[in-house]
Amino acid sequence: MSTNSPNTFAESVMTVPKFRDRTGTSTPLVCLTAYTTPMAKILDRHCDLLLVGDSVGTVLHGLPNTLGVTLEHMILHGQAVVRGARNALVIVDMPYGSYEESPQMAFRNAGRLVKETGCAGIKLEWHEGIEETVSYLVDRGIPVMGHVGLLPQSFNSTGGYKAIRDANFAQTIIDSALSFQRAGAFSIVIEGVAETIVKDLVKQISIPTIGIGASAHCDGQILVTEDMLGLFPNVAKFVKKFSDMENFVDNAVQKYAAEVREKKFPSTEHIYTTKAKEIK
Ligand code: KIV
Repeated sequence: MSTNSPNTFAESVMTVPKFRDRTGTSTPLVCLTAYTTPMAKILDRHCDLLLVGDSVGTVLHGLPNTLGVTLEHMILHGQAVVRGARNALVIVDMPYGSYEESPQMAFRNAGRLVKETGCAGIKLEWHEGIEETVSYLVDRGIPVMGHVGLLPQSFNSTGGYKAIRDANFAQTIIDSALSFQRAGAFSIVIEGVAETIVKDLVKQISIPTIGIGASAHCDGQILVTEDMLGLFPNVAKFVKKFSDMENFVDNAVQKYAAEVREKKFPSTEHIYTTKAKEIK
């Protein structure tokens, strides 16, 4: 398959019902994060789902965590990704502070994400009592993806990003996933959870589970694109670097800087010449 040809598994337009029907099927769902149009165009050829994650705050905007991400960030990046995606399902994260207060507040903000970006649904992180909000959104036509396990938006209360490996937390994680399912979520992201816990969890869930640091027992996988491309030196244990973009970019910029300083760039092929005046 050439790099420009569409992936056979993502050839037709992905919808929420089609995605939900992929639970327990033999071909895992391929998901990645996207924040910009050019990247979305490339990823769309190969992915079933593009997540406009609030990780955009740390990855593109240099924030220390995702807590400072705003609804406006998510709308701008959501619009950019929707413009680049033809086939993949585009889901946009609800940022911290945009849905916790009440189901009504969540609906107002989720409604803006759907209306202003054209995305197919939203994702939100688990918290106690989330069921009421999820069913409120689902009943009003907004597909919801849940997020359980390591919850980046709980950074301050958990004291950092820690994988859940303690078997004593197994039931809590399973219950949080079941609460999303009961409330009508169409899929669940499981982040940073030990394999044995995930194995138990997926047996009890009948909507697609998408893992990030959650083993191969899930129905699909997701990574932060810039992490898997190797743009950052320090990444979590669950990230496999499929490329070395940091060095790739560094080499290109080094060559550019040298050519500018040595006055080799721009050369004749990259400059405009004056047009001779037409003689009448
Ligand atoms: O914000 C994000 O990128 C995410 C993924 C890590 C699942 O939520």
